[in-house]
Amino acid sequence: MTRPEKSEIISLLSLTAKEEIEALHHRAYEIKTANIGKVVHFRGIVEVSNICVKNCYYCGIRRDNANVQRYLMQRDEIIDACLWAYKQGYGSVVLQSGERQDDTFTEFITGILNEVKRRSGGELGFTLSLGEQTRRTYDRWFEAGAHRYLLRIETSNPDLYRKLHPADHDFRARLDCLSTLKEIGYQTGTGVMIGLPHQDLSHLADDVLFFIDQDVDMIGMGPYIPHQDTPFANKIPDFDADAALELALKMIAVCRIFMPDINIASTTALQALNPTGREMGLLAGANIIMPNITDVKYRSAYQLYDGKPCLDENASLCRNCLEKRISAIGETIGYRQWGDSKHFTTRKS
Ligand code: 5AD
Ligand code: SF4
Ligand code: FES
Repeated sequence: MTRPEKSEIISLLSLTAKEEIEALHHRAYEIKTANIGKVVHFRGIVEVSNICVKNCYYCGIRRDNANVQRYLMQRDEIIDACLWAYKQGYGSVVLQSGERQDDTFTEFITGILNEVKRRSGGELGFTLSLGEQTRRTYDRWFEAGAHRYLLRIETSNPDLYRKLHPADHDFRARLDCLSTLKEIGYQTGTGVMIGLPHQDLSHLADDVLFFIDQDVDMIGMGPYIPHQDTPFANKIPDFDADAALELALKMIAVCRIFMPDINIASTTALQALNPTGREMGLLAGANIIMPNITDVKYRSAYQLYDGKPCLDENASLCRNCLEKRISAIGETIGYRQWGDSKHFTTRKS
């Protein structure tokens, strides 16, 4: 695949005519089916804790938001959720959490990885989405059986990054983490938020080029959605959900067109903007869905943005609901498979 010109990406992201946007989605979907097939892989996501040492201006669980009731799931609750997913035939799970680097937390995660690996006979795959950590921690988690890591860069533009975060949140440190993860041997994923304050199409085109240049295995990205208890609550005064969704879908399609064999998630935030948002993501070229398997008692406390869906629906309801939605668009679910990024397999061989 030749690296596209930035101008080409901008012109695709600028499309406004309905038929042209549909044609873009269609082109991406054809590329997805030709390279990956009409199959969606599930990753059950466990929202382990909303305790976070960081203070990102856009995020609902930022440290300074006093309106959040903080929790850390019990060890057994996390293990049970993972084993539930295993029994359902989900090939892998994602452990996601606010960021914490202390030993108590990192060792807690290592213990869970070891235990679930043991109890699933090594079969259940693990993706971690636990933020910036030291090389030592990433090493330990890899040894304990995690094989994929998602760390969003949020934006590939250092100046924009600075506007979205307090001064001690370091763009360079995040880039270094991405390199470390790759060196260790993780299938590495990153992503951005789409429609951020101060962001324009030029930034997004650079994000696509960043993904290509970083040679990423996976992308998890979604629309930026304001959260009322953050400094950015009113940054986008007339937030337009339809426009935000349209732009996020265009980004998925463009990424698929230029990165035919990577894993791209159709993220929950799409569904926050439209009840069928995740199906739309699949039809625009995504191939991964992350059904929420967190106990409902924690779900409302893990709101990164307003309007998060499935707050009252338990893991079984979400499974049934997503199964229906996926078969309604003519796709199947790849049960009992890790669904590794094809790109990773080729990159390694
Ligand atoms: N809108 C959309 N996504 C958000 N995230 C955090 N806050 C928001 C928001 N307001 C995303 C970030 C983070 C991921 C876990 O959630 O991209 O990396
Ligand atoms: Fe913490 Fe992640 Fe939210 Fe930033 S985006 S405040 S690191 S949970
Ligand atoms: Fe959770 Fe539909 S995806 S209820």
